[in-house]
Amino acid sequence: MYSTAKLPKITTHVLQEMKVKGEKIAMLTGYDYSMARLLDEAGIDVILVGDSASNVMAGHKTTLPITVDQMIYHASSVMRAVTRALVVVDLPFGSYQGNSKEALNTAIRIMKESGCNAIKLEGGEEVKESIDRILSAGIPVLGHLGLTPQSINKFGTYVVRATEEGEAEKLRNDAKILEEAGCFGIVLEKIPAPLAAEVSQSIRIPTIGIGAGKETDGQVLVLHDMLGINQDFSPRFLRRYHNLHDEIIRSFHGYINDVKSREFPNDREQY
Ligand code: KIV
Repeated sequence: MYSTAKLPKITTHVLQEMKVKGEKIAMLTGYDYSMARLLDEAGIDVILVGDSASNVMAGHKTTLPITVDQMIYHASSVMRAVTRALVVVDLPFGSYQGNSKEALNTAIRIMKESGCNAIKLEGGEEVKESIDRILSAGIPVLGHLGLTPQSINKFGTYVVRATEEGEAEKLRNDAKILEEAGCFGIVLEKIPAPLAAEVSQSIRIPTIGIGAGKETDGQVLVLHDMLGINQDFSPRFLRRYHNLHDEIIRSFHGYINDVKSREFPNDREQY
């Protein structure tokens, strides 16, 4: 059993040391107080309040509709639960891409109103000015390259990215740009494992992979996918650690049957 008794509070510096020591970083998404308590108690290193909340919490088809206010709501709920993990919050689509001053204002609002530890945003060279401004305000930034779901309308599909040399070369350059700008890490999503390994070795900051093979410095999965709550999404990279969908449905059936058959409540369950 994994013990969390003597684990240190996670900071961006701790993540950097973990890379140097070759200790893998475990990150999962989290969007609410109750799950964040469980994640923190279990000893997760990083909780990402991802804009995937748009999909798994709100039922949208893409991450695009979620707003800054909604991200702050999720992030503050997570922050009320966490004592040890580093909490990183996604800047939502449209809140940083066009204008670096707006990017800084969004990042400041999210940090102030949620109390989170860092923000994440998608893209490389094209968002460098926003990253520079946010970093200059003392806000730690996690980059995100490869499949960047906020650009789904440009990509047209969620297939693996950077399989062709042109896109792979841009990704290598973007990783260097993010490192030199001062990002504390980079999420690499759905790219070939050899490319992810090469990028991870070529930069000093940690990489955290999702569908990027085993050589990245850490891994991240979407909570609802790894718990098997969501059965509609089965990419090759997803390992399901539970089948909560079936367990929850079984519990709901049990409750419905007990109510209908007058088995619940019984004499001991009343006043
Ligand atoms: O929003 C999210 O959940 C993410 C992860 C998939 C990395 O960005």
